[in-house]
Amino acid sequence: MIGVTEMDWHAWHDDYDKPGTPLARRLAAVQDRIRVALDAAPPGPLHAISLCAGQGRDLIGVLARHPRRDDVTARLVEIDPRNADPARDAAEAAGLPGVEVVRVPRRTTRACPGRPPGRVPAPCPPPTPRSGCVS
Ligand SMILES: C[S@@+](CC[C@H](N)C(=O)[O-])C[C@H]1O[C@@H](n2cnc3c(N)ncnc32)[C@H](O)[C@@H]1O
Repeated sequence: MIGVTEMDWHAWHDDYDKPGTPLARRLAAVQDRIRVALDAAPPGPLHAISLCAGQGRDLIGVLARHPRRDDVTARLVEIDPRNADPARDAAEAAGLPGVEVVRVPRRTTRACPGRPPGRVPAPCPPPTPRSGCVS
């Protein structure tokens, strides 16, 4: 079995592009939850924090087409530049200047200074001590 730290987290995203795979279904479910949270959010600014954000397909995919898109600022925290760069590109392509992608160089709990608590939950797999994900 491959450990979390040995996982190729870039290749992990490939199944998102294969309809019907468990990962593609998972993405749809996560996006639904984000959509529901955005729909139910009170008027005004919203802040989202996505830790272990990967390519940000969950949050960016929803924000790109959601009526609350301009109310949302988000910080996506990702360790792998092969994922952080596409996330940044996707946010830019979607015209979401409020979505910031922070690439952390190593294990850190300092990725969110000055950022108010997120009000839109951006789910990611449960953090594990081995991956160093912070929550
Ligand atoms: C299972 S993927 C999930 C990606 C995204 N949340 C999604 O659901 O599509 C986990 C991601 O966490 C990233 N990661 C692992 N350890 C991390 C750390 N210490 N800080 C930030 N990101 C980390 C990996 O590079 C990978 O992209």
